[in-house]
Amino acid sequence: MATNLRIDKERLWSSLMDSAQFGATAKGGIRRLTLSDEDKAVRDWFKAACEAEGMTVEIDALGNMFATRPGTDPDAAPISFGSHLDTQPAGGKFDGILGVLAGLEAIRTLNAAGYRTTAPLTLINWTNEEGARFAPAMMCSGVYAGEIGLDAALATTDNDGKTFGAELDRIGYRGTEPVGARRFGAYIELHIEQGPILEEEAKTIGIVTGGQGILWFDGTITGKDSHAGATPMTMRHDALAALAEVILAIEAIAFDHAPGGRATVGEVFALPGSRNTIPGTTRFKADFRHPDAAGLTAMEADLNARLAAIATRRKVEIDLTPVWRKDPIVFDPAIVGAVAAAAEKNGYAARDIISGAGHDAFYLASTCPTGMIFVPCAGGVSHNEEESTTEDECAAGAQVLLDTILEVDGR
Ligand code: GLV
Ligand code: MN
Ligand code: MN
Repeated sequence: MATNLRIDKERLWSSLMDSAQFGATAKGGIRRLTLSDEDKAVRDWFKAACEAEGMTVEIDALGNMFATRPGTDPDAAPISFGSHLDTQPAGGKFDGILGVLAGLEAIRTLNAAGYRTTAPLTLINWTNEEGARFAPAMMCSGVYAGEIGLDAALATTDNDGKTFGAELDRIGYRGTEPVGARRFGAYIELHIEQGPILEEEAKTIGIVTGGQGILWFDGTITGKDSHAGATPMTMRHDALAALAEVILAIEAIAFDHAPGGRATVGEVFALPGSRNTIPGTTRFKADFRHPDAAGLTAMEADLNARLAAIATRRKVEIDLTPVWRKDPIVFDPAIVGAVAAAAEKNGYAARDIISGAGHDAFYLASTCPTGMIFVPCAGGVSHNEEESTTEDECAAGAQVLLDTILEVDGR
């Protein structure tokens, strides 16, 4: 459905900046971990903003928020869009937030014009997309899609031993709707690219055709605590020295699987934590990515082999627990085509692109026709307080989101 509706770029930017007050850091970023007080505050603000636009906000048993604007055909499957409002511990103002607030801007534009879509429209804030506090990432869209168990999600603990379920109750966002009860006719997610390609090629819009696979492990290395001065170098079972080797081995695995492979150890713990005690226990959290499922599997096999060799040589035990696997996905050609048409209609320079980061759209893709829109971010930097996308880039993404929604509605 071709319309001349234009989103309001200043209004979008001002809601982005308003949202950035919740969990604002001194360096201009955001710390808004899932189910924290800051997450509750931004949810309350977002719910009020949706209700002010006449939307009905419903919440499921994992705190996923669904704000709906009726269409002219109440029997039509709703067209959904959105992203997440949680952030990394030292995150930026745009990762996730842009997709939610651009959706709100699309609704505001339709309301201002008095334009009724045929299908109902549902704007979504998915709980715990980041997976920084509770693993895995995209947890609650994963339960929605039936790929992650509800009980397992509720029982997940953070580093302090607090459970997801207890924290959800604490902030008052455990809703009554069964997770996965509602289904959509389509799902569209706008996001910053979080990589350098669009900026390097001076493209405004990324037409996302799919996303690479993700594999997470938790590891524990068990050696033996002993005295730093009295234990000869040949008699040690140093779990931290072993971890140093593990980290380099994991990095080497990514290089061995170039150009697609990526591997990161993002969190480490050493116990008992004293300068003059050789650490007897260490724990680490590792993240692997690859555009092919076979590549992920091959990296896992290399990991097991390399860690076994380190354990033998260093006389420690290394236990690896698989936490999460999400295989690469391909988005629906009809939605990808609608995004391309919306970019073209607006005269934006665009290109096809594969997502390097994970997104809730990866899980939605198994439940309904799904696609994504990317806009550039400065230097390709994300998961960083300096993450930055311009007012014009955010507006272009929101315009393409609105036009994609209308295109899908008109089919
Ligand atoms: C989410 O940001 C992820 O890609 O892990
Ligand atoms: Mn994100
Ligand atoms: Mn992220």
